[in-house]
Amino acid sequence: MILYFTATGNSLYVAKKLESNLISIPQLLKNDNHIFEEEKIGLVFPCFHSGVPKIVEDFIERSEFKTQYLYAVITFGAFSGGSINHLIDIAKRNNLKFSYINELLMVDNYLPMFDVKKEIEKVPQKRIEESIQLIVEDLKNMRIYIKKSNKILNFMRSLMDKFYDRNFERKFTINNQCILCGICSKVCPVGNISMKQKPEYSNNCQHCLSCIHNCPTKAINLINQKTTDRYINEHINTKEIIKSNNIL
Ligand SMILES: Cc1cc2nc3c(=O)[nH]c(=O)nc-3n(C[C@H](O)[C@H](O)[C@H](O)COP(=O)(O)O)c2cc1C
Repeated sequence: MILYFTATGNSLYVAKKLESNLISIPQLLKNDNHIFEEEKIGLVFPCFHSGVPKIVEDFIERSEFKTQYLYAVITFGAFSGGSINHLIDIAKRNNLKFSYINELLMVDNYLPMFDVKKEIEKVPQKRIEESIQLIVEDLKNMRIYIKKSNKILNFMRSLMDKFYDRNFERKFTINNQCILCGICSKVCPVGNISMKQKPEYSNNCQHCLSCIHNCPTKAINLINQKTTDRYINEHINTKEIIKSNNIL
């Protein structure tokens, strides 16, 4: 069983390669508490701001895992910083012990820092398929392994946490290419966007950028984006992201 969160499909693609029984974390969060029981239970999700996305942290806090092999795979685009240590801290707080934590370098979808086209050009060097295959083997053998990340990275994560923009949604603009299709509200994992005269954001944005990357007319922009190009994992489509994230 894999419990996953995805905004632009990287983590869903990886989850699909690892397991067939996939359950979306945003869908699970519609209910209060969860108990999962299986021989192996995995979490697959992206690194956000050098750490674990808030939605995944909330989910772990509200869940109980009865398993002999709890594992996690964190997808990231450039520098995963203290995300593994962050996950270990969350686990400790919740009396959980991971048997395996690894990370996987993929395309970086973070528009304030990266240009999508340049990121896609880097794909061959990132050896994504080879890395996935190694993780598949590890999990088949129930390997005990926690990828090392050092304390300095952890410190950096805590700094980033202090400085990252908490009013992200104020940086979104909607232009007149908006056709009111509602896809942005359906891919939002927390139902933070309502469709009025145009999409309107409430104040629970998770910063995942799913609304921006999945908008079919590129009507949603970030004032500090590096490019107007958008990214969805080439093996995943918007319908699958809607199925994962639509909680309305
Ligand atoms: C808000 C946000 C913060 C991110 N922070 C980092 C980061 O600190 N380090 C990194 O390497 N990638 C970062 N990324 C890139 C994603 O982790 C990466 O592209 C991931 O594979 C996306 O997974 P998904 O397609 O399943 O959403 C960030 C992306 C977003 C949207």
